[in-house]
Amino acid sequence: MDFFELIKSRHSVRSFDSRPVGEALIEKILDAARLAPSAKNTQPWRFFVALDKGAKEKVVKTMAAHNQWAMDAGAIIVVLADMDYGHKKETKNYLIDIGLCLENLLLAAEDVGLGACPCTNFQNELLDKELGLPSNLNSIVVVAVGHKKGEPEIHEKKSVQEVVWPPQ
Ligand SMILES: Cc1cc2nc3c(=O)[nH]c(=O)nc-3n(C[C@H](O)[C@H](O)[C@H](O)COP(=O)(O)O)c2cc1C
Repeated sequence: MDFFELIKSRHSVRSFDSRPVGEALIEKILDAARLAPSAKNTQPWRFFVALDKGAKEKVVKTMAAHNQWAMDAGAIIVVLADMDYGHKKETKNYLIDIGLCLENLLLAAEDVGLGACPCTNFQNELLDKELGLPSNLNSIVVVAVGHKKGEPEIHEKKSVQEVVWPPQ
């Protein structure tokens, strides 16, 4: 798909049908995610992938009540940050890195015909515990990925004129 078409056709998807998401598609999505730029090329992202009901439950039970629809997603990807990278500990660069990786992931999901929604409304420390993460890894964002059911809601975006400063 044309790059701008892809960007325009991506919307957060919160309604999924029951088809599972194959491991080959997950691999493709993670391949795009891992190619994101990062400060000093530290690539701090790590991914926990939940495909079966038990693993998905572990994640979804830490999510807010309004995010429980995530259980219907064929896959849940938790993007983790590896905090063991000296020079960046005092900066917020790792959050920018994870954000860039997240956008690659979301666009790749759209490109392979899946829908996705990033969620940060979950209990990070509880999820870290549920997943048995070592102390250097922190959960940053939970991404529900699956086969779209129906049409996603379209959220209006500000125009270029509205976001350029100073106003023209
Ligand atoms: C950092 C971040 C956190 C988000 N957390 C949630 C969430 O917890 N639950 C949810 O339903 N959507 C969540 N979203 C999705 C946003 O609501 C959505 O991206 C926004 O409304 C714009 O819609 P669009 O993605 O369709 O363009 C999150 C998005 C981002 C970028």
